[in-house]
Amino acid sequence: MKPSASLFLALSTATLFLSSPVSNSQGAEAQNEFKPGEIWNDTAGAPINAHGGGFLLHNGVYYWYGELKIGKTWTPESNRSWGGTRVETVGVSCYSSSNLYNWKNEGVALAAVKDDPKHDLYKGKVLERPKVIYNETTSKFVMWMHIDSENYKLAHAGVAVSDSPKGPFHYIESTRPNDSMSRDMTVFKDDDGKAYLFYTSENNQTMHIALLSKDYLKPTSTFVRVFEGRSMEAPSVFKYKGRYYLMASGCTGWAPNAARSAVAENIMGPWKELGNPCIGPEAEITYRGQSAYILKAPGKTDSFIFVGDRWNPHNLQDSRYLWLPIQMTEKGFEVRWHDTWKLEE
Ligand code: GAL
Repeated sequence: MKPSASLFLALSTATLFLSSPVSNSQGAEAQNEFKPGEIWNDTAGAPINAHGGGFLLHNGVYYWYGELKIGKTWTPESNRSWGGTRVETVGVSCYSSSNLYNWKNEGVALAAVKDDPKHDLYKGKVLERPKVIYNETTSKFVMWMHIDSENYKLAHAGVAVSDSPKGPFHYIESTRPNDSMSRDMTVFKDDDGKAYLFYTSENNQTMHIALLSKDYLKPTSTFVRVFEGRSMEAPSVFKYKGRYYLMASGCTGWAPNAARSAVAENIMGPWKELGNPCIGPEAEITYRGQSAYILKAPGKTDSFIFVGDRWNPHNLQDSRYLWLPIQMTEKGFEVRWHDTWKLEE
């Protein structure tokens, strides 16, 4: 099980701007604004299914990768104490967009395995928070993800590779980076081409940051322990004016909690915590959401978007997305609620 979550629960239980909605080629209504928490349909009119998502901008096209959550939600016996509901693992979805409002379903980028219970991608196991980066040297797209057993005791980071951003990704393996547990994770590719794996380690108590190998396929032995004992999950990282910023959650399973933020001059630290970046009603529960990714918006250089999940633990398929604008401040950044909002033109 996820011990820290169990402890907590025991304690508390752009570019294209349309002036009015128009129809796209497949007949679904095009979006021209973000509506956090509402059902968000793809260009074919089906709800976008890409949870715990990651994003890639490649040749002017945005790709959104996420956990496909389909079918019945249930609670495995092994997860009953901490409310670890689940759906069968189906794989990683991929959507594409040129404007961040309207997303086309590109199909399953990495499919689960139905018939081999030993395989990491077996439908009965856990595949969460897929993130994709492009390696200029090898011309490969590399996907990192959280791989786990049904009871979350495996705590591995998995990696897959593809020649195309849409996949199919070919699964390579999963490991415990530097022999350390790895659950919630993200990857960050720096301007110099170096890439880093951020992962919740040491039984969800302490985060690690490991430099990836030049081909991005393995964690190297260059790693640091950060936010010691702070139980941070759901890491997302961005860079602004040479500084690194992190947003993360506390460790309470699907239940929302107060977000954390932090800043660093060097990606390997030291990191300085800046507190909860959310402000206003429901800020203490991240507007009923949890961070998945921070996306650089098109246009202005200081334009970033908080991408979060609003999980529905009783019907995971109906979990929603929270996209909110990030406001950079003198000290760090803020995330304020908006019922609807648009990218700046
Ligand atoms: C959360 C985590 C999610 C998922 C969930 C399961 O803490 O951020 O990615 O693992 O727990 O309950």
